[in-house]
Amino acid sequence: MTSTPSDSPAPVAPDEGPGGVRVRLSGLRRTFPGGVPVISGMDLDIGAGAFVALVGPSGCGKSTLLKLVAGLDRPDAGTLTFSPPLEQHTRGARNPIAYVFQDAHLLPWRSVLDNVALPLELTGVSAPERHAAARALLTEVGLGDATARYPAELSGGMRMRVSLARALVTRPRLLLLDEPFAALDELTRNRLDDQLLALWKELGMTVLFVTHSLSEAAYLAQRAVVLSRRPARVMLDRWLDLPAERRASLRSEPGFARELGLLQEALERGDAA
Ligand SMILES: Nc1ncnc2c1ncn2[C@@H]1O[C@H](COP(=O)(O)OP(=O)(O)OP(=O)(O)O)[C@@H](O)[C@H]1O
Ligand SMILES: [Mg+2]
Repeated sequence: MTSTPSDSPAPVAPDEGPGGVRVRLSGLRRTFPGGVPVISGMDLDIGAGAFVALVGPSGCGKSTLLKLVAGLDRPDAGTLTFSPPLEQHTRGARNPIAYVFQDAHLLPWRSVLDNVALPLELTGVSAPERHAAARALLTEVGLGDATARYPAELSGGMRMRVSLARALVTRPRLLLLDEPFAALDELTRNRLDDQLLALWKELGMTVLFVTHSLSEAAYLAQRAVVLSRRPARVMLDRWLDLPAERRASLRSEPGFARELGLLQEALERGDAA
């Protein structure tokens, strides 16, 4: 069963933070010079505060799509609308969109605390204020006692937690994650998934999460969008029929297996297309 945004559950009410932004893609197209179309007419309506997982075969255009939404790349045609509109990126304004890559991209010469505080430093926030904000987020991701360490002294999972804390320190209204935990072992990945869910519930931002893992998509997201191989088309857009509260035991329940089956079927259809 596919579903439309009109079936969408009420946006999650954030306990704290600015909440999310609605993102609408209409007829979005992107063809790289001399290449074949990567995105050819994509329509997607993502409600404010929704957690949406994006899955699709390698090379289908997921990262391209995320970069278009982030404003790191421009579409050849189509529109991208944010509501409420994002603040102008004027000097001193905090970027309302945060991006987390597969690699943590930390600055090796900066401590964990100063890595997380960097986005606030760049917008002129005072040292005590930015350090307090960075410390609070590091505590939330379980790194409250690692603030003085340097990236080289951390495990891969710890580095990703620092990266996540840095992305959230500006309290973004839209969080874009491109296979952030793909390089980690399964236990670490599951733990980070739970931390991400806790942060989303607390801050209420809209989340667009790209992953290769169908079980990660089903565990995290309210809604999963399965893309075909290039040019990416939407093969399935589904509100997952799972309890709002996600617990580790969910992964072994029949309802979860059923959702995985539907995602798998759409992925295979999209790969054969
Ligand atoms: N800057 C670029 N210039 C030219 N071609 C590009 C550029 N960026 C991406 N592509 C091409 O666009 C297609 C989609 O790439 P993209 O990185 O979006 O895929 P993806 O779905 O994220 O793949 P993966 O799952 O492997 O990360 C690929 O064929 C890629 O080679
Ligand atoms: Mg990619």
